[in-house]
Formats: sequence, C-alpha cells, structure tokens
Amino acid sequence: MSGFVAWRAAQQDRVEQALSSWVAADAPAGLGLAMRYAVLDGGKRLRPLLVLAAGEAVQGDGAAALRAACAVELIHAYSLVHDDMPCMDNDVLRRGKPTVHVQFGEAQALLAGDALQALAFELLVPDDGSMSPALSAALCRQLALAAGATGMAGGQAVDLASVGVSLDQTALEAMHRLKTGALLQASVMMGVATAHVQAGVTRELSAYGASLGLAFQVVDDILDVTTDSATLGKTAGKDAANDKPTFVSLMGLEKAQAYADELLDQAHAALHRSGLAHTDTLHALADWVGRRAS
Ligand code: IPE
Ligand code: IPE
Ligand code: MG
Ligand code: MG
Ligand code: MG
Repeated sequence: MSGFVAWRAAQQDRVEQALSSWVAADAPAGLGLAMRYAVLDGGKRLRPLLVLAAGEAVQGDGAAALRAACAVELIHAYSLVHDDMPCMDNDVLRRGKPTVHVQFGEAQALLAGDALQALAFELLVPDDGSMSPALSAALCRQLALAAGATGMAGGQAVDLASVGVSLDQTALEAMHRLKTGALLQASVMMGVATAHVQAGVTRELSAYGASLGLAFQVVDDILDVTTDSATLGKTAGKDAANDKPTFVSLMGLEKAQAYADELLDQAHAALHRSGLAHTDTLHALADWVGRRAS
C-alpha cells in the first residue's frame, strides 16, 4: 500500500469515528437517525482529508483540524441531502443508498440538513476550552462564507436558475467555483488556519484550493456521463436528464478532461511555490481528484 493510500484510509477512519461520536442518534422524533444516515458510512471524505492534509503541511493544531474536518463534512452532507430533494435535483440514490428524503420523507430530510448545518458550527465552538476563541471565530467565518450565499448556497441557486440555459465558460466556471469550489478551498484554508503561517503560504495554498476545487466539479461533470450509477453510488446521467449546463455539455468530454488536468497542474504548481516541506499528501490528493472513479 502506498503511503498516501494508508494515510487516507487511516484518516477516513478517524473522521468516521469522530463524526459518529458527534452526531447523536437521540435527537427528537428520529431526527438523529436521519442525520446519522446522511453523514455516516459513505463518501470519499475529500473535504476532511484536505483539512487534515493542509493542517499537517503547516504543522497546525491537530485537534482543531479534526473538528474543522468534521464541520466541513457536515456542511457537505447537508448540501447533498438538500441537493437530492425533489425541489432540486430529485435524486433517489446517494452514496450507494436511497437518498435521505426517500428513506425518511421530505420534511425530515429538510430538517436533517438544517440540523447538520447547525452542528457544523457547534463543533467549531467547543465548550471544553480546547480551541482559542480567535481560532473558533476564524474557522466559523471561513465556513460560513463558503457555505452560504457567497459560496455553496449561492452556487446552488445559480445552478437551479441555469436549467436549460447554455452558460459560457466564464459563467459556468463562476457557478462551479461557488457551488463546489468554495467549500473545497475553505477546507484547505481551515487546515491552514490551525497554524500561524506567512502570507505567501496562505496565498499559494488558497490558489491550490481554488484550482483543485474547480477541477473537482469538472471531474464530477465528466463522471456523470462516463461512469455507471453502481460505481458512482449516485444516479449517472442526471445532468443531461435535468438539462444542466456542465463542462461536458459546454466543451465535450475530451476538452473537459484536458481542462481538469490543466487545473490540477496549476494546483501542483501553487503547492511548489508555497515552499512548504511537507506537501506530499496535498499533491497526492490533487492526483486523486483527477483520477478518482467516483
Ligand atoms: C459530490 O461530492 C457533490 C459535489 C459537490 C460534486 P463528492 O463527490 O465529494 O461526494 P461524496 O462526499 O464522496 O459522496
Ligand atoms: C452538487 O452538485 C453540489 C452541491 C453543492 C451539493 P451536483 O448536483 O452536480 O452533485 P451530485 O452530482 O448530485 O453529487
Ligand atoms: Mg445539483
Ligand atoms: Mg445533484
Ligand atoms: Mg454532479
């Protein structure tokens, strides 16, 4: 097993255990069960892995990084629950299981998403004195900006408003940077925030996160047409069926793949420019984004 594959498996386990301990089953009226169903036992955990790898690269506070890693994953899981609802993409399969609204009903899915979002911020404000108020506030601000109108939720609004519309590359890129890129970039920057680093390091890791974040959604668009539902764990071919503008519909498969590769090259270049010594894992994560199967 390569060093990266072993690291990834170990960190995925750590994140799973931490999430399991933080997402309680006993919320009222079955809400806890819907929340646990949404977030446990599934997904690549790319965002937590980015937080943890960035934290390691800057030799930051490991306990804070684990909280930040789980907080980002809670926001991501909530975004998937809502993304799959009939009023949005209307999907029945997610992470190889029936979607939350199929399993628990629409109202419970809506509430599970709401509660996962609130829990994300609760994790960033521990009441055991383990995080400085300044770090708590900085992480909350980064996550709020990436999740809300200036990030994921804003991008999702553009996505829904773009059904049947043929966006040009600039508009499509702007949408992807918000709906997916912002949270991936924030994952990197929350890891960075767990240490004090020079402005140049912050700038280059931010550039790494931006390029990787956009590349990730370009690859998601590609996988939607090249890969079957069983491998993806979600319904293939949904973008065309829902008449969504994507990088594949804009430029075709081959050019979309070349564009993703170019963006990932930019991510690697930014990492080199950072001058940090321990960036192997961040490099490996960028490679993984490019050649993942799901
Ligand atoms: C899927 O994200 C939704 C997008 C933002 C494109 P992931 O591909 O990271 O989904 P999981 O977490 O592995 O299920
Ligand atoms: C979803 O984008 C991005 C989110 C913010 C959840 P998609 O709609 O393309 O994600 P999938 O393909 O359903 O995972
Ligand atoms: Mg969507
Ligand atoms: Mg979707
Ligand atoms: Mg997609």
